[in-house]
Amino acid sequence: MGIIFDEQQRLFHLQGKETSYLFCILKNEQLGHLYFGKKIHPHPHFAASLRVIPRALTTCVYEGDLAFSLDSMPQEYPAYGKTDFRHPAYQIENEDGNTISELVYVSHVIRKGKPALPGLPATYVERDDEAETLEVTLRDPYLDVFATLTYTVYEQFNAITRSVRFENRGTQRLRLLRALSMSVDFHDAEFDLLHLSGAWSRERHIQTRRLMPGVQSIDSTRGASSAFFNPFIALKRPQADEFQGDVYGFNFVYSGNFLAEVEVNPYDITRVSMGINPFDFTWLLAPGETFQTPEVVMVYSDAGLNGMSQTFHALYRTRLARGEWRDKPRPALINNWEATYFNFNEDKILSLGRAAQKLGIELLVLDDGWFGHRDDDTTSLGDWLVDRKKLPNGLKHLGEEINKLGLRFGLWVEPEMINKESDLYRAHPDWLIHVPNRRLSHGRNQFVLDYSRQEVRDAVYDMLVNILTDAPISYIKWDMNRNMTEIGSAGLPKERQKETAHRYILGLYELLERLTQRFPQILFESCASGGGRFDPGILYYMPQTWTSDNSDAIERLKIQYGTSLAYPLSAMGAHVSAVPNHQVGRIEPIDTRANVAFFGAFGYELDIERLSQADLDAISKQVAFYKAHRAMIQQGTFYRLTSPFERNYTCWMVVSPDRREALLAYYKVLAQPNPKFLSVKLQGLAPEMQYEVQDMFNPLKANPMYLEYMQKRGLTEPTLRMYGDELLHRGFALPIEVMNEGDFSSYLWKLTAI
Ligand code: DGJ
Repeated sequence: MGIIFDEQQRLFHLQGKETSYLFCILKNEQLGHLYFGKKIHPHPHFAASLRVIPRALTTCVYEGDLAFSLDSMPQEYPAYGKTDFRHPAYQIENEDGNTISELVYVSHVIRKGKPALPGLPATYVERDDEAETLEVTLRDPYLDVFATLTYTVYEQFNAITRSVRFENRGTQRLRLLRALSMSVDFHDAEFDLLHLSGAWSRERHIQTRRLMPGVQSIDSTRGASSAFFNPFIALKRPQADEFQGDVYGFNFVYSGNFLAEVEVNPYDITRVSMGINPFDFTWLLAPGETFQTPEVVMVYSDAGLNGMSQTFHALYRTRLARGEWRDKPRPALINNWEATYFNFNEDKILSLGRAAQKLGIELLVLDDGWFGHRDDDTTSLGDWLVDRKKLPNGLKHLGEEINKLGLRFGLWVEPEMINKESDLYRAHPDWLIHVPNRRLSHGRNQFVLDYSRQEVRDAVYDMLVNILTDAPISYIKWDMNRNMTEIGSAGLPKERQKETAHRYILGLYELLERLTQRFPQILFESCASGGGRFDPGILYYMPQTWTSDNSDAIERLKIQYGTSLAYPLSAMGAHVSAVPNHQVGRIEPIDTRANVAFFGAFGYELDIERLSQADLDAISKQVAFYKAHRAMIQQGTFYRLTSPFERNYTCWMVVSPDRREALLAYYKVLAQPNPKFLSVKLQGLAPEMQYEVQDMFNPLKANPMYLEYMQKRGLTEPTLRMYGDELLHRGFALPIEVMNEGDFSSYLWKLTAI
């Protein structure tokens, strides 16, 4: 492990756990990319292996030299306009009015550890020997602009992080039109591009397509990373699958507008770049000023998509998420939103609390509607004062009463938003994101507070501190329910208006940093109409995110499967909700609903006072089960086994770090007549260990016909003993219908090493 600079070849070799990343200083002093992939020993003339050949109809860097061109040269941080015609990593407009620039090598340093990015979320180290960092300083000789490219390689993960810092040491007022965080040119184009896209309530579905010549990209222009495209892409070899083959994952540690772009040129060089979306972005870089880009995490796996995901999971769980709640068991919670919506009072919340306590639930979350005069979504955002009509004794009293029941108390807030029908708006009508002379568009009747302004953030901070110091609050659900329009800030001069969206995100991060440092004991869960801002930037401040407003178990198979491409189970809020489901009207057995929600930060979101005794009994067992297994769920290794995007059934499993325990889940969407035989090969188990396989939650168990069937075959307690190698290589036979069990059935097995 480590970073080597070969002076002879002027070549950098970044060595991760099992990864090599190589680049060199080219003849024109720019950086050329050589290799990213499985760890290798480069030969003594590796840098010279970059093929430089004369081509027709191209342009060349040096007069008299018909070969050296950047047209198809693999590079590290390319510019447009000096023989490279592809989309560049950066663009600087100078006072002459043109955008020509070139960043050439000046110096580099290699150091232990990983420096923090000021004001930005980023992966980190706890000890300096966990990682090494390379900073390569480049300079544009005419503009006297410096760009420092920072690369960190981790000792324990096949992950490399990248970011860039610009510094204007010249005299011109420059404008950064494009300042991406990374760019890398692969030497061929034999890849599938995979990304996560969707919309509200069907977030992060997996999309895969073959790379084609030209530009293919995903982005966000909404002011948030968004439910529509996640700031994540992967390139995989066409023959790679969940378990084998080369996969490269790229994830942007940022919560605002982003661009993830892949450009294949006619010579099959594949350029991958990622960063703040240059669309509608310009940053004024005055003399003496710096601009720091957010971080991109790049992961290489030769063990397919699961290998890539497991690296992201381990890195994010342990070196992106922070604070007390990073490693603590997450509480089994109940949220009142789908139980009551806006229609509740103190009595109802307390009786929900009493019912929850009997079931073993640990935390009650009071959702939207507790403040101002908020009986619907037209009013009161911005006025963070309790509604005495609903809660006559205040939040403090309610929290204390909930605590007396033995439950912790949690609260919903949406502090980035404002309704016009609020005292805050009446006092500060210009505190919204807006531009002069244009009618304001709304979303859910609400407007976006201008977090680029310090005074706005300070006011929100004070309001939240008042609540959090007054009432005994252990958990905050931080919601955000609309995207930005008419983007501009009354706090910024004309030439900085196009900085608003990024300054908003920086402001959000600043506020979250202050709050999470001040209240380290509070578990913060992010939410944005469900999964509208599920990204690594947010995970740095809040270790879990409400994965989707869609709580239907069958819909959640796809949402959670897709989300797990980059994000760990510990980051995914997952709740059991009522039937018929409020988003799709589907009716699933309560076991199936829990069997899906177990694979996340678990909870309930339904009126438990309206349930049958049978359902309450089931919930008691589920809560006990979650408590007993949450350490494994949060810290174990997750394996996707069969995909809901490809089949009528889904399997996944989680294995404890010592491989002595595992949970295996099998979900069948539709019942099928006269079904085929199915089996699944398990993953991650120790081949030499013998495991007891116990059938845990199975909706059929409540069915007398099923019990009779099992009894007849002497299978009253269907517990098997099997060796790891059999489960890994021969596989595990999935039950096929022994009777008509209906749609949406599921099974959960626990494997325990004997
Ligand atoms: C959107 C969230 O995703 C829901 O869970 C709920 O908190 C509502 N907002 C409340 O308005």
